[in-house]
Amino acid sequence: MTELARVKISALGTYVPPRLLTNADLEKMVETTNQWILERTGIYERHMVDKGVATSDLALEAAKKALCERKIEASDLDTIIVATVTPDMLFPCSACLVQHKLGAKQVWGFDMNAACSSFLYALQVGANLVATGAHHKVMVIGADVMSSIIDYTDRATCVIFGDGAGAVILEPAEDSLGLIDFLYEIEGAGGVSLYMPGGGSLNPSSHETVDKKMHYVHQDGQAVFKFAVKKMAEVCETLLKRHGLTGQDIDAFIPHQANKRIITATADRLGMPEEKVVINIDRYGNTTSATIPLAMDTARQEGKLKKGDLVLSAAVGAGFTVGAALFRWAF
Ligand SMILES: CC(C)(COP(=O)(O)OP(=O)(O)OC[C@H]1O[C@@H](n2cnc3c(N)ncnc32)[C@H](O)[C@@H]1OP(=O)(O)O)[C@@H](O)C(=O)NCCC(=O)NCCS
Repeated sequence: MTELARVKISALGTYVPPRLLTNADLEKMVETTNQWILERTGIYERHMVDKGVATSDLALEAAKKALCERKIEASDLDTIIVATVTPDMLFPCSACLVQHKLGAKQVWGFDMNAACSSFLYALQVGANLVATGAHHKVMVIGADVMSSIIDYTDRATCVIFGDGAGAVILEPAEDSLGLIDFLYEIEGAGGVSLYMPGGGSLNPSSHETVDKKMHYVHQDGQAVFKFAVKKMAEVCETLLKRHGLTGQDIDAFIPHQANKRIITATADRLGMPEEKVVINIDRYGNTTSATIPLAMDTARQEGKLKKGDLVLSAAVGAGFTVGAALFRWAF
């Protein structure tokens, strides 16, 4: 078991682009209804970038807010890890773009992609960098412009996703507050259920890949749903059990926001009362790498997250990737 109790989240900043895409807007674009989307996903609206705004722009705004909250300069950071499935381009990595835009010349960094589990995986990697003592201030950013890879004529996927970003700063903890434990696993056989086939080395972008819509998200919704419902609860239970805890001991459950039904099914199985479960999918949709920091912010705003609170976070993503984190909120 990895004990990472001496690393804490010391600041949080989030950003979503101002433009809204509501269910009413989608009713005009594809054959769907507000009622279907709300009942099947829990989503009412999501935010979307304007043309020319990319993932690094959203990441930058979230990063600036986290730095402002912590009252430090970008140059005080050691490392920037950007979790994303929609980098501005394949390379340079988004961490380089964000570092440059922040003017943080000496700061190291890199990207991570584990689809919807990206933020939790980056949190784990960032925490390990701090836990070794080699890094003192690591910024983990989850940012995605999902609207750049969604087919807005495909009603099964276009209603789900949104754009957004969230950043946290990781530092050594002086007290017992902070990160306690992580659990993670991947299930590669699930790759066929959720993927974007075009634009990589297997299917480099061409007229043919674009004609075949290979540059968009392809999803077997039911397969993903079934796996997510089973796995979210399973990893949470295993992680809690490892520490002699149950869902009742958790002060705030901050899950990845993929579908409201997945979240409530998980919370029910863990025996968590509704008021401890953080849900903001109605406002943001699934922002992939940004859902968990955005949900942390919602939890703060709704008074569900106070210093010392025991928090459980979990995600399932394309791959399949699975992750869970247990921590005490430290500020
Ligand atoms: C995508 C998802 C919302 C679909 O909901 P569902 O209840 O499973 O719906 P199904 O896929 O079984 O489709 C049921 C019907 O609704 C239709 N439908 C799909 N999208 C629709 C929409 N936006 N509006 C209206 N009808 C829609 C389907 O075509 C299907 O019609 P049919 O029965 O005539 O074939 C759901 O499967 C889901 O959330 N899956 C997980 C996705 C996810 O989390 N992805 C990110 C992973 S991190």
